[in-house]
Amino acid sequence: MWSELDSAESLLSLRGLTVAYETDEGLVRAVNGLDLTVRRGETLGLVGETGAGKTTAALAVMGLLPARRAVVGGEIIFEGEDLLKLPEKRLRSIRGEQISMVFQDPMTSLNPSLTVGAQISEALEVHRAGLSARQAAARTDELLALVGVQPSRKNEYPHQFSGGMRQRAVIAMALACEPKLLIADEPTTALDVTIQAQVLETIEEIQTRLKMAMILITHDLGVVARCCDSVAVMYFGETAEGGTAQDVYEGLTRHPYTDGLFGSIPDLEGEAKRLSPIRGLAPDPTALPEGCAFVPRCPLAREICRRRRPPAAALSSTHMVRCHLPELGPDLKPDLKPGEEPSGRPGGGWTERPSRRLDGRP
Ligand SMILES: Nc1ncnc2c1ncn2[C@@H]1O[C@H](COP(=O)(O)OP(=O)(O)OP(=O)(O)O)[C@@H](O)[C@H]1O
Ligand code: SF4
Ligand SMILES: [Mg+2]
Repeated sequence: MWSELDSAESLLSLRGLTVAYETDEGLVRAVNGLDLTVRRGETLGLVGETGAGKTTAALAVMGLLPARRAVVGGEIIFEGEDLLKLPEKRLRSIRGEQISMVFQDPMTSLNPSLTVGAQISEALEVHRAGLSARQAAARTDELLALVGVQPSRKNEYPHQFSGGMRQRAVIAMALACEPKLLIADEPTTALDVTIQAQVLETIEEIQTRLKMAMILITHDLGVVARCCDSVAVMYFGETAEGGTAQDVYEGLTRHPYTDGLFGSIPDLEGEAKRLSPIRGLAPDPTALPEGCAFVPRCPLAREICRRRRPPAAALSSTHMVRCHLPELGPDLKPDLKPGEEPSGRPGGGWTERPSRRLDGRP
């Protein structure tokens, strides 16, 4: 079992998390039985195509889903308590003080009419009752320095900051409560490429220094290889594959979806390292398929894949895939009817996949 990742070390465990949005077009099933675990102090990379449900899952953990339109099920276990069952007051204190989130666009988190310093001090006052004004000012300076912004610029307004500096300021605000878990949802995507690397470096340094756990949501597989201890690959609202970064990048066996995503990375230390598009369309989120949601796009699909939702199969104590292939065995012949077999590697075996090393070497 990849239960080794779900041990006493676990800080956050999502178990069978479901989220559906009520819309005029019907129920949009954004998260469909998501399982993942984040251990204390580790960085988990959450990757997957657009619409996979990454942000929705993060918002569910933060309790920031639209209350009247989102239907949430399953369990969100944080420090042994199911956040979905706790009273509102207790929830507010956990979510505000122990879990923080950094969003993709820094302007959504900053108030344009307050100075950056005032906003960080405000965040401090909310989380640290009893802090004097002088202590709050000193801590604001420390936080700004920690994220690489000159404390002397604290009296400037967000519009006077560059994009990269704004994101640094938002990170400083998220760190004000000294969270045990930081969720960073594509924290560098909105920034210039040159600034992205610097901000990421800052996040990495802070994470190491503060020893907090982090969920890093990203489309950049190079970033995952560089920063993450473990990886969850999301497809249609569930974990298609999960394991240590080494398992997922270097393992001999991989979920066909992960294989597709990783397909066009020439070198993990090189330039082209964003997720590659996979042929075919992502499933319609208003219609939950009976079997595996990846069937129409999967080059290894079998008849059983259409009929039965695949179980989570353990490849090792740290590595799982949600796919029928491991239980069916390595020497399968495709059993779809002629003309039904998706194009790709016809008859490709489960164990024949090449390994890809984290360092990009063959
Ligand atoms: N507020 C909402 N109301 C209705 N549907 C929504 C809402 N937010 C997201 N969705 C839908 O839920 C699904 C998951 O969206 P989500 O934003 O969580 O994906 P994502 O993995 O974060 O994608 P991206 O990589 O583009 O950020 C999508 O089908 C999306 O259209
Ligand atoms: S369960 Fe079947 S369709 Fe789904 S990923 Fe595995 S082989 Fe492909
Ligand atoms: Mg998103």
